[in-house]
Amino acid sequence: MKKKEFRLLLLPGDGIGPEIMKEAIKIIEVISQTGMKIETDIDLIGGSAIDVYGKPIAESVIKKAKTSDAILLGAVGGPKWDSLPYDSRPEQGLLILRKKLGLFANLRPIKSWSQLLDSSPLKRNILTGVDFIIVRELTGGIYFGKPRGIKLTQKGEKGYNTELYYRYEIERISHLAFQLARSRRKKVTSVDKANVLQSSILWRKIVNEVHREYLDVELNHLYVDNCAMQIIKGPKQFDIILTNNIFGDILSDESAIITGSIGMLPSASLGAKYGLYEPVHGSAPDIAGKNIANPCGIILSLALLFRYSLNKPKIADAIEGVVGKILEDGYRTTDIAEKGSKVLNTSDMGDRINAELVRMLTRL
Ligand code: IPM
Ligand code: MG
Repeated sequence: MKKKEFRLLLLPGDGIGPEIMKEAIKIIEVISQTGMKIETDIDLIGGSAIDVYGKPIAESVIKKAKTSDAILLGAVGGPKWDSLPYDSRPEQGLLILRKKLGLFANLRPIKSWSQLLDSSPLKRNILTGVDFIIVRELTGGIYFGKPRGIKLTQKGEKGYNTELYYRYEIERISHLAFQLARSRRKKVTSVDKANVLQSSILWRKIVNEVHREYLDVELNHLYVDNCAMQIIKGPKQFDIILTNNIFGDILSDESAIITGSIGMLPSASLGAKYGLYEPVHGSAPDIAGKNIANPCGIILSLALLFRYSLNKPKIADAIEGVVGKILEDGYRTTDIAEKGSKVLNTSDMGDRINAELVRMLTRL
């Protein structure tokens, strides 16, 4: 058999996951037609994996992930599985995958699309020209810290988790953030709660230490509560926001407001070896199956996959450019629709993006 150039593992997941994945697959097919050999394999994660494999991610899927060049994921979770015990919930599939693949760095680019300035509840002058990346630590902190649990005590039930960071975890994410800043506007804002938390005191100390190797990059520190306010008040000040797992989770949803809709946000989760790409939005069970979800988040995640894992920046630029062009032409899914826009459903939006991509690629 002829060796394929790239192998991608596709994990649609739950809710709107399969619908948006379909649109990403169309894009992969278009790119394959340009001569790039891409082999895809599709498997289950989250609730859909619970239904078939009895657990949120099967060993065989983790193995497949490890032999792929990159993984593209839709979304996990849904009310059907909400009452399951903690360890067997759909979200565990994603958390286990992140941990087992060592995906310690989650990059969430936040950019205000000039075409969507009126889709955001924020004022135009606050939004214009915003372009930053949240670098979220992804395999440590309170998400994984032990001890954790729910126990019956003499004072009643007790639920507890542990926020903890090792030096090496802070060092490696800081290096990545400073290196990324060097390819951009050379500014890192490290976000913590060092006025209250020991884990944050260590975080700030180590970020400062690592910074000594990157003195050409400007570093400042913000407490997370202040940062949450600054993101709404003056988001232009940010280039790279470096932060821990839970703060990054929260600040990235907040930042989505800048782009007009969380449906527009892509992400890349990177480690020393592997790369996983997924939209920031969830499985949106309320709109699942209606063919109205915004496929841009997963399509832009696919662009990041071409950029970071397959080292094909031109393809990444082409995909991002096409999304911009389609918005420019006035096409919108309902989440970003304004008065006068041409509202499309998920598959029609995917088709538009595809048709434009075909045009663009023939020009490359
Ligand atoms: C995200 C999501 C996940 C997280 C959930 C689904 C486990 O909210 O990627 O932001 O909390 O990391
Ligand atoms: Mg989240």
